[in-house]
This record gives sequence, structure tokens and C-alpha cells, in this order.
Amino acid sequence: ETILPGPYLNGDKTSFAWPSARDRWPSIIESIIKDVQQTIEETVLAIEKEKEAGSEKEEPSVKILLFQEKIEEGKVIIAQTTQLLEDLNADKPLVPFEGTEADLLDYNKELARIGPLTWLTAPWLFSECFMYRKLSTFFTAQKRWVTYDPYARQKDDAFKASKEGVYELALRYKELAHQLKTHRITPESQRLLFREFTDISLWGNATDLSLLTNVTLDDIKSLQGAEIRKKNEANILVNDLDKAYESLLAKREATTPVGETVRVDFVLDNAGFEFFADTAFILYLLDSKLADTVIVHPKNYPWFVSDVLPNDVLTLFSHLSNKNFFTDAEHRADLDSFADRLVKYHADGKLLIRTSPFWTSYHSFDEIRPDGAGKAVWEDLKDSDLVVFKGDLNHRKLIRDLEWPRTTPFKTAIGALATSGIKVLTLRTIKADVVVGLEEGVEAELEKKWVELGNENKLGWAYSGKWAVVQFSDGSN
Ligand code: F6P
Ligand code: MG
Repeated sequence: ETILPGPYLNGDKTSFAWPSARDRWPSIIESIIKDVQQTIEETVLAIEKEKEAGSEKEEPSVKILLFQEKIEEGKVIIAQTTQLLEDLNADKPLVPFEGTEADLLDYNKELARIGPLTWLTAPWLFSECFMYRKLSTFFTAQKRWVTYDPYARQKDDAFKASKEGVYELALRYKELAHQLKTHRITPESQRLLFREFTDISLWGNATDLSLLTNVTLDDIKSLQGAEIRKKNEANILVNDLDKAYESLLAKREATTPVGETVRVDFVLDNAGFEFFADTAFILYLLDSKLADTVIVHPKNYPWFVSDVLPNDVLTLFSHLSNKNFFTDAEHRADLDSFADRLVKYHADGKLLIRTSPFWTSYHSFDEIRPDGAGKAVWEDLKDSDLVVFKGDLNHRKLIRDLEWPRTTPFKTAIGALATSGIKVLTLRTIKADVVVGLEEGVEAELEKKWVELGNENKLGWAYSGKWAVVQFSDGSN
């Protein structure tokens, strides 16, 4: 039995948890308040318009009553959100959930077990999940706001601003589709394509909205595109990609003669450009017949600002086909065929969407096992031939956000998941302290390099999003 290190804490000055809880979360919460305010203002205008239209009637229309209800409820949401912001800033204790949903009771139980906790000293991962889930309950408690996503505006704006990267990738996909139709794909080119499209999906993660509090949309744009990916290759600190590929290919070769299907799953991260990049990878997997079905797993509630919600999946399809969203006519045909392909796979049941409350729980992924809190997810994912975990948060949950020495083997850090039968591939650009699987000496080199680049804090390389890890576990040892 190994003794586990402790979790990263919000009160640790040397961790990215410190500025996260003190600067980033307050500004994220403020942006929610602004967003709700804006929606209320729009609703006021909608009422005026409705009144003008039906001025001859004496009774307010049902529509108007609903709008008024929405405004009143919106004010309640703002009051609760403001209270949470004050609690956070004043380092008040985390207040248990009032709801009775199973996952909320589960949060409360854990809080009672490890708490009481205060916002600025609590374990980072637990309190961050707690905060986002708490925020979500303010909306779901109000009839007219149940499905409201307070980050939707930001998501759309950032996606629009990514148009150059979108055009470039849609064009690349067009070439790929042509290549797959007209050429016999050699094993070597198949392997290279797999690398290229995982790489696209990996670096798609560098652009995440929760970091927009200190990164501009222009910075994000500069992270998209083939040239930058090539330059970044050296920044992939661990790369198990070939192992994942071999494993998937072996499965493909074993199943083809007996007519069985190959299934790949994506535990998604962010909407917008990242998810678009993921769908390029998904189209490649399906078009090349490396996989027969792909199941994507979005979140049930607005999560870490930019994470994909079920609705964002369909929204991606419609944004791509919408000439008012991506306006440049010369790219229209490429985007349309990309979107049509996605819609077709979705309609044919080859691209499926599946949710679970587990993804918005606080649990680490070593609970994905027959006797763990993620039992239901285990039941599902054990039938997958490869489960791709996208992004930083999923990775933190994989390796439990504990203060591991950075040379800890990945399989040690993922605990029971290493022997759960689940084939794990994690594509992560590093935006938080926790990192494992590095060779001896690499950490010291990175610190040196980061300081040479003109940064004061040598530890900051780990939350710059400039480095990445691609790690694999076949689930069997
Ligand atoms: O560390 C910064 C952070 O915003 C964390 O809050 C969170 O773990 C993560 O990055 C979100 O990034 P991603 O969208 O890649 O999971
Ligand atoms: Mg995210």
C-alpha cells in the first residue's frame, strides 16, 4: 500500500491554486453576473416589444408573464451568485448544497468528511468542482433558467474569433477525405495520420476560456494552426501516442475478420475550437475505419467555463453550417461538408452523445472501477477500445490532483484505473501544477527554461499551457 501525497491546496502560495481562487474565480463569477444582467436587460426589451405588438389588448400576454417571471428569477440568481462571490473573497466556509439530487448529497457527504473547509484554504480540485456545481444549482432552481448556460456568449465569441484555425482545419479535413477516397492508405501513412489528428485534438486544448482571464483572444488564435503545432512538438514532455495507436490498431485487426465493431470514447473538455478539433479527429477515426463508433461524453451542467454541454455538440454542427456565424464565403463549402459529415455520422448512430453525473462530481477517475463511485461509468467505458480524456481538468482527475513527485509513473498516479480494464489516452496541455511521468532532470530543465524566457516564478511553466503530455494506460497491469 503506497502512502498518497496530499492534495494541492488553495492556501499554497507556490501553487496555481493560489491565484486561481483569489483572482481567476472571482473574475469568472463576475462575468456570470454580467451575463445574467445582460439577459435580464434583453428580456426587458423583449417585454417592451411584445407590449407594442399587442397594445390593443388589456391583459398582458402569457409571453409577457413568462418574461416577467424570468426577470424576477434572474434577480434571485444574481443575488445568490453575488453572495457566493462575497463568501469566496472573504474566505468563508463552503456551504453545503440544499438540493436532494444524489450527486449533491455526495458533495455534502464529502464536505462533512474532510471539512469544514474555507474557500481560500480548501483542497483545490474539490473546491473548484464544488464552486461550479454550486453555481449550476442557482440556475437549475429557477424554472425559466433551468437550461441556461451563462458561458454561452463567451463560448460563441471565442469560437468566432478562432475562424482562421477553423478554416485551416476544415481545409485539411477536405484533403484528408479526398486522400482516403482516392489512395490506398499504407500502414505508415495511417500511423502518421493518427499522429497528426491526435496532435490537432491535443493542441486544441491549449485554447481554453477559463484562462481567458489572463490570456487574450489573440493569444488563443496564435495557438491554432499547423505551423504552431509543429513548433510545439518538442513541448510534448511524454508521448505515448504510438502505444495507444498500436493498441487500437491491434483491436481493429482482430475485430475486422469476425465482424465486430471498434469503439472509441471521448471524455470531452472544451466547446468551440477545441471540440471542433476533436471532431476532426473523430471524423478521421470514422472515415479511416479505424473506429466504427465514437461516443462523446459532455457535462450535464455548465462546467469550468468552457466545457462542452450536450447542447454544444449540436450547436457546433449548426455554427459550422451557419453562414452568419462563419462569414467568409470562400470557406463555406469546406465548412458545410465538414458539418454534413458530422451530422450524417450522428444520424447514423455512429457518433453518439452520452452523459453521466459522474463528470460533474468531485471524484477522481480512480473511482471508475466496479466498486467505486464511478461504477456506472466503468460499466460503460470497459466496453470501449480507447477512451480519450481531453484537457487539463480531466487529467487532474486522472492523477487525482495530488502533490506527486513529477517522476511518479503515470500508472501509479492513476491508481485503480491502471488495472480497471479501461484503455486510457490522455491529451493534455498542462495548466495546473500536477504533472507525472517526467524523466529525471526534466523538471529542473523546464524551470530553468521558464526563467530564461523572462518569467519570475520558475514554477510557472506548469500552468502556462505551453507544455503537454500524452499518456497511455492499457488498463491491464
Ligand atoms: O489550471 C487552470 C484551469 O483553468 C483549471 O481551473 C482547470 O483545471 C483547467 O485549467 C481547465 O482547463 P481545461 O479546460 O483544459 O480542463
Ligand atoms: Mg475545460
